[in-house]
Amino acid sequence: MPQNIVFTPLADELAAKAREIADKLVRPLAAKYDKAQEYNWEAAKAVAKAGLFRTFVPKEYGGHGAGVLALARVTEELAKADSGFGVAFAVNALGSFPILVGGTEAQKKKWLPSIAAGEKFVAFCLSEKFAGSDAGGLSVTAVEDGDDYVICGEKKWTTNGGVADIYSVFCVTDPTSKSRRISAIVVEKGTPGFTVKKVEDKMGIRCVPVVETHFDHVRVPKSNLIGERPGMGFKHAMMTLDLARPGVAAQAVGAAQGALDLANVYAQRRQQFGVPISNHQMVQQMLADMAMKTEAARWLVYAAAAAADSQAANVGQRAAMAKCFATDVAMDVATDAVQIFGGYGYMEDYPIAKFFRDAKILQIYEGTNQIQRIVIARSLIRDANDLGHLDEYIPRETQKTYQEDGAVKQA
Ligand code: CAA
Repeated sequence: MPQNIVFTPLADELAAKAREIADKLVRPLAAKYDKAQEYNWEAAKAVAKAGLFRTFVPKEYGGHGAGVLALARVTEELAKADSGFGVAFAVNALGSFPILVGGTEAQKKKWLPSIAAGEKFVAFCLSEKFAGSDAGGLSVTAVEDGDDYVICGEKKWTTNGGVADIYSVFCVTDPTSKSRRISAIVVEKGTPGFTVKKVEDKMGIRCVPVVETHFDHVRVPKSNLIGERPGMGFKHAMMTLDLARPGVAAQAVGAAQGALDLANVYAQRRQQFGVPISNHQMVQQMLADMAMKTEAARWLVYAAAAAADSQAANVGQRAAMAKCFATDVAMDVATDAVQIFGGYGYMEDYPIAKFFRDAKILQIYEGTNQIQRIVIARSLIRDANDLGHLDEYIPRETQKTYQEDGAVKQA
């Protein structure tokens, strides 16, 4: 079903504030923080002051309650200036969604107001060395001990690690169960035994830390288990990703637009064969394709975000489509932008090389684009059950079922 996409005045206002901060404090400082691999605290504080962390948090917990669509627009504006800063912002939503989708009222009241105010930053600890795409194959354990859980093991690629105060950590609480093996537990910075190790040296998004988080007998009260009962962690992780993937897709749209804008300006200024290179039809074709793909991605992202806000039945499929399409577009557009810049594009003197480096991770994190295609295909195949009215148009000889004794039964 087509999705109603409605931009509220509040969403417009939040996006405008994000654009202002991006122009003043993100784009001009992007190269500096990229080189130094340092977090842009100045911009993060401005984002907090402007109330942008409130965007996705419901009103009753101190947020704007503006939803996933508004969040996508804010993220897009920030990522247009610097993809790294875009994810530094958006990952706070990713880390908060497990509390939002699965937490008790008391847990929401405890953690969400300080997240909304931008006083506390959040991280999402799912991936491990041996469990990336196979998110169910975790090995970090949380064992009950009196009134506490004791967490042991290591998480890999924790974005915002060290900067974040609150960590949603996915742990094995019942190794014997197949479908209720995992639970999400909140670990706060400073809890004894919890340390940030190996800060990764990355190809792109270098202004946001991605780290290993280590849990050496970390003791947290049972009240930190997200939800009423253990075993809901995998579901909460999947529901979280359904809400967060439009955000990655929005980072991708921002990144694509940022690269396109630079390539467009460069193509007007750069003269070859006596004319601006934008006069050459092959360059025009590249610019046109870049613009067309970026615009198509943008509306797919908005539709997925609006589907999340209206709790549409097929949110997961739409989120995966938006994530996969938009991030593939970002990589294509960044590649073509470097091509238009030619030799200058390959040099780190200009931001376009950074757009190219930053784009790659978009196709990997929050589920590789291969995983997105699996999610889409599984959902499509399920949809086929509702298309029985089309059977009469399908060759009859293909409509056979196999009986228990192996015999074939014709439809
Ligand atoms: N919503 C609710 N429940 C869901 C669901 C959804 N979208 N998807 C699956 N489930 C439920 C299923 O109904 C099933 O429940 P039951 O056991 O009760 O039947 C259960 O979860 C298991 O589902 P599957 O059999 O489909 O699970 P699977 O093992 O085949 O895996 C997968 C599915 C889609 C491949 C999943 O493992 C996946 O998404 N992997 C990618 C992980 C990922 O995205 N990691 C990103 C890490 S975060 C990150 O990158 C952030 C960063 O740094 C910025």
